[in-house]
Amino acid sequence: MNRFEDTAVLLTGAASGIGRAAALRLASEGAAVFAVDRSGDGLRGTAGLLPPGTGRIHTHVADVSDEGAVVAAVSRAAETMGGIDVLVNVAGVHRTTPIDRLTVDDLRFLFSVNVVGTAVFCREALRHLPDGTGVIVNVASSSATHGNPFTSAYSATKGAVLAFSLSLASEMSHRRIRVVPVSPGTVATPLTSRSDMLPADLDTSYYRRIRAPFGTADPQQIAGVIAFAASPDAGYLTGAEIRADGGSHI
Ligand SMILES: NC(=O)c1ccc[n+]([C@@H]2O[C@H](COP(=O)([O-])OP(=O)(O)OC[C@H]3O[C@@H](n4cnc5c(N)ncnc54)[C@H](O)[C@@H]3O)[C@@H](O)[C@H]2O)c1
Repeated sequence: MNRFEDTAVLLTGAASGIGRAAALRLASEGAAVFAVDRSGDGLRGTAGLLPPGTGRIHTHVADVSDEGAVVAAVSRAAETMGGIDVLVNVAGVHRTTPIDRLTVDDLRFLFSVNVVGTAVFCREALRHLPDGTGVIVNVASSSATHGNPFTSAYSATKGAVLAFSLSLASEMSHRRIRVVPVSPGTVATPLTSRSDMLPADLDTSYYRRIRAPFGTADPQQIAGVIAFAASPDAGYLTGAEIRADGGSHI
C-alpha cells in the first residue's frame, strides 16, 4: 500500500514505542514524516530503521510541553516538507499515582505533556493543514473511558485528549478537516514495561485479572490503526474514537 505518497506528516513521540512504529509505517507507505521527540538518540534510532527506498523521516528534538518549542517545531515542519497534511500526536507520559500519593507536580507533569502538548500542536498545525483533506490523529487511551486503579491522573489526561478531539472535530468540520482520537489498550512499549509502573507495595492483582481477550498489543498493531485513521480510507471518519484495545471493553 502506498496511501501516503506526497503526504507530509508531522508526528510527535516518534523516538519510541507506538510513535516510532507509526512513523515507520507511514513512511513505508510513502509519507514524508517530520518526527518530533525530546529524545534525539531515539529519533536517530527510528530514522535508522527505515528501509531504503521508502518515504523520508526528518528528525527534530523538542519538548512538546514547551509552547515556544512547539511553535518552532511546527513551522520548521511546514518549511521542511513544503506543508503539513497530517498531524499525529503520540507523545505522552505516564505516572502511577495512587490517590493518597498524588501530587500537584504529578498533575502538572502529566497534563503539560499529554494535554497541553497535544492541544498546542493542534492549534499550530491547523494553520497549515489543508481544508478538505487535512487530518489530525490524537492518541488517547482506553483508560479515558475505562477505570483502572492507581492511574486516575493519567486517565484524566487521556479523557481530556478524547474530549478535546471530539470538540475540535466539530469545530473543524466546516473546513472538512478530520480529527480522530485513537485509544489503545495495553501495548508492549517502554512506557508499560517500566519497573515503577506498578510499585511492589501496591495490590496489583487487578492488573493480572484484566488481560484483554486479544492480549497485549505490539506497537505495530496500533501503528496500523493510526495509519488507517490518517488515510483516505477513513475519509468519512471524524469525531469518533477508535478503540484498539484487543476486546478489553467486551
Ligand atoms: N503503551 C500503552 O499501553 C499505551 C496505551 C494507551 C495509550 N498509550 C499512549 O500512547 C502514546 C505513546 O506511548 P508509548 O507506549 O509508545 O510510550 P513510549 O514511552 O514508548 O513513547 C513515548 C514517547 O513520547 C516521548 N515524549 C514524552 N514526553 C515528551 C515531551 N515532553 N516532549 C517530547 N516527547 C516526549 C518519549 O520520549 C517517547 O519517545 C502515549 O501518549 C501513551 O499515553 C500507550
